[in-house]
Amino acid sequence: MIEVDHLTKYYGDFPAISNVSFTAAKGEILGFLGPNAAGKTTTMRILTGFMPPTSGTARIAGHDVVTESLEARKRIGYLPETVPLYTDMTVKSYLAFMGTLRGMDSKAIRRRTGDVVQICHLEDYYNSIVGKLSKGFRQRLGIAQAILHEPDVLVLDEPTIGIDPIQVVETRQLIKGLGGEHTVILSTHILPEVSMICQRVIILHEGEVIAVDRPERLAERLEATERILLEVRGPTNQVAKAIRDISGVQDVTYGEEGGKVVYNVTCRRSEDMRAQIARTVVEHGWQLMRLESVTMSLEEIFLRLTAAEGA
Ligand SMILES: Nc1ncnc2c1ncn2[C@@H]1O[C@H](COP(=O)(O)OP(=O)(O)OP(=O)(O)O)[C@@H](O)[C@H]1O
Ligand SMILES: [Mg+2]
Repeated sequence: MIEVDHLTKYYGDFPAISNVSFTAAKGEILGFLGPNAAGKTTTMRILTGFMPPTSGTARIAGHDVVTESLEARKRIGYLPETVPLYTDMTVKSYLAFMGTLRGMDSKAIRRRTGDVVQICHLEDYYNSIVGKLSKGFRQRLGIAQAILHEPDVLVLDEPTIGIDPIQVVETRQLIKGLGGEHTVILSTHILPEVSMICQRVIILHEGEVIAVDRPERLAERLEATERILLEVRGPTNQVAKAIRDISGVQDVTYGEEGGKVVYNVTCRRSEDMRAQIARTVVEHGWQLMRLESVTMSLEEIFLRLTAAEGA
């Protein structure tokens, strides 16, 4: 449904994105994850035909976003970073207006307005003035206008930014429900959000794709290292030193947790490592109270990926 090939965009001589390539299958929800200035909005603007790339190509349902811009845009619904709402219109008249802009006839507009108002839970605000809607409801209206013309592809630029926690949960559910029917690309720098909503994540950093994977697979990719939580009864400094001296251990930190000393061990991932750590503790005559492998959160992975890139 979406094919992006070596997309590059220069602002002057500054490359905002370079060689960005990815695909998205029909019905898939794809997350763009990256810190500020990573190039998320730039990529989305190119996909939606807002501006051309410097080089590379992007296709929506087979239509090139530059050479067949109109065909491509017909198939896209776009929620930009700042939703362009007309604050003096009612929700109803705004949606009708957006439908007209997209070339829908009045019958289609009536039918779809009813649909999207229901999908986005805007029923109670149908006749409200847009300017009086709360931020979360404006965001929903932004999504409603994006899906009005039944596009195959939805591009949502930070759809949950600035929304209160309760509305965020609902908005995420709303977006999740749009997958399957639509192919969705959403950008965020909220890490748990991608795990919650997306089937696949593209991590962008300084304009480059540094990882593409399923959220849970990203964790496995850092398989080379493992984190182990260890609780030992023994002299703290000596315990830490003894574990640090085990070959394959990269780092040991410790802190107190409810009156107990807990060691945080980063080491090469293998069955052996855990056995060796246990053996070391026991051989010193200390008591091993807990030894537990911890899965790394996407957040840590993200930090690691970006740190590795910068190094
Ligand atoms: N119109 C522009 N002119 C010059 N530079 C720009 C322009 N738009 C964006 N940039 C630069 O391109 C880079 C990528 O910006 P972009 O807006 O795509 O990032 P982003 O990932 O969307 O960030 P954020 O999370 O802050 O929204 C940044 O360094 C930014 O300063
Ligand atoms: Mg942005």
